[in-house]
Amino acid sequence: MAANERQSIHGQWSSRWAFVLAATGSAVGLGNIWKFPYITGENGGGAFVLVYLVCIAVVGIPIMIAEVMIGRRGRQSPINTMRLLAREEGRHPAWQYLGWAGVLAGFLILSYYSVIAGWALAYVFRAGSGMFTGASADEIGGLFEELVSSPERLLAWHTIFMVMTMIVVSRGVRSGLESAVRLLMPSLFVLLVVLVGYAMNTGAFLDGIRFLFEPDFSKLSGESVLIAMGHAFFTLSLGMGAIMIYGSYMPQYASIAKTSFMIAGADTVVALLAGMAIFPIVFANGLEPGAGPGLIFQTLPLAFGHMPAGALFGLLFFVLLTFAAWSSAISLIEPAVTWLVENRGFSRVSACMWSGLATWLLGLGTIFSFNVWSDWTLFGKTFFDLLDFLTANIMLPLGGLFIAIFAGWILSRKASQEELAMARVWYDVWRFLVRYITPVAVVVVFLNAIGVIG
Ligand code: PFF
Repeated sequence: MAANERQSIHGQWSSRWAFVLAATGSAVGLGNIWKFPYITGENGGGAFVLVYLVCIAVVGIPIMIAEVMIGRRGRQSPINTMRLLAREEGRHPAWQYLGWAGVLAGFLILSYYSVIAGWALAYVFRAGSGMFTGASADEIGGLFEELVSSPERLLAWHTIFMVMTMIVVSRGVRSGLESAVRLLMPSLFVLLVVLVGYAMNTGAFLDGIRFLFEPDFSKLSGESVLIAMGHAFFTLSLGMGAIMIYGSYMPQYASIAKTSFMIAGADTVVALLAGMAIFPIVFANGLEPGAGPGLIFQTLPLAFGHMPAGALFGLLFFVLLTFAAWSSAISLIEPAVTWLVENRGFSRVSACMWSGLATWLLGLGTIFSFNVWSDWTLFGKTFFDLLDFLTANIMLPLGGLFIAIFAGWILSRKASQEELAMARVWYDVWRFLVRYITPVAVVVVFLNAIGVIG
């Protein structure tokens, strides 16, 4: 069978749009609304945002095209796809370890992602009950502390979120996901615009905008550049096979480059809107932009507590945030589940149970790192910080580097040209980027962060 006639045993998206929606569902998540604002706050604002945007364009989009292409070419779990394509090109089967590294990264990320998604879930009830109405910044901060200092509560929310995730994955990611994302993504977008509207009236809108968009390069360390690049991978779900497995369900006729641009564009707009909503509130209330992972939970409730119909908007916002997190979470575990089904003869349901259970257990480490283990640090980082740093800033960029090398140097020109079916000039631009620019950029950022150059 010709490579471009292969079918996935796990099914196919119903259309090009279904792929765009699902991949956008994977990309848009806690990374945009929770992580982007807090790491921007910790890394000084404008210059960091600029580096992040450059990384999306130069590293993120070319790798997204590469990853979707590899996925659709192989049409299997990332591990088996890498092995198959390497074999077809007469290359070493060791390329399959790239798939393995992705499965491991997805598992590690989901373990803490689910804990944070649990916070969003808890805030659905807090916002809906009117708890934030008229509350001061101190009171809102106190409520957040009260949540994260309780391991039992965090465990309960983490458990609920993991169960929600595994139920969807066990049914197969295609059913239900498309329609959910079709409705929820635009709603999330509208609510973010409402929040930006609120931020415009805080009196500190311009301070917030300046913080986000006025670059001050003196605030940028080598580590900040690495974090910005790592975040470009994290937010676009790249470097671990999530977008690859979604690509494997993509119809053959759809254009990979066009859809990749749409996904990256939507993802970036959502992150910037979140920043534009949050930083004015931070400055208007004299809060600390570098407050860390609690940032959105300490700022947005202030907006909901002071706007008309705030309880309703707050409730809706956290529901949508939970859904955005959920549509990302399912893509984090899908590569592992498909491998268990393809190679170990698991049914989809038991594959979900075992991988979900392992992820849930590891999540305990993140839960404790916010309370009982908060004093335990290595290189000044808690267990959660270490896991986040290792996955987002090391494993995903390394995974992406090898995906670029595979797409640019291992896969033949004929194969990638056939799969991408782009106009010749654009194809040449893409190939030049993944062969030279993207790998060199990733390596330079790594060397710069560890102080070898720069
Ligand atoms: N892109 C998701 C977010 O921004 O929240 C997180 C994520 C999902 C990262 C899937 C990696 C991944 F494979």
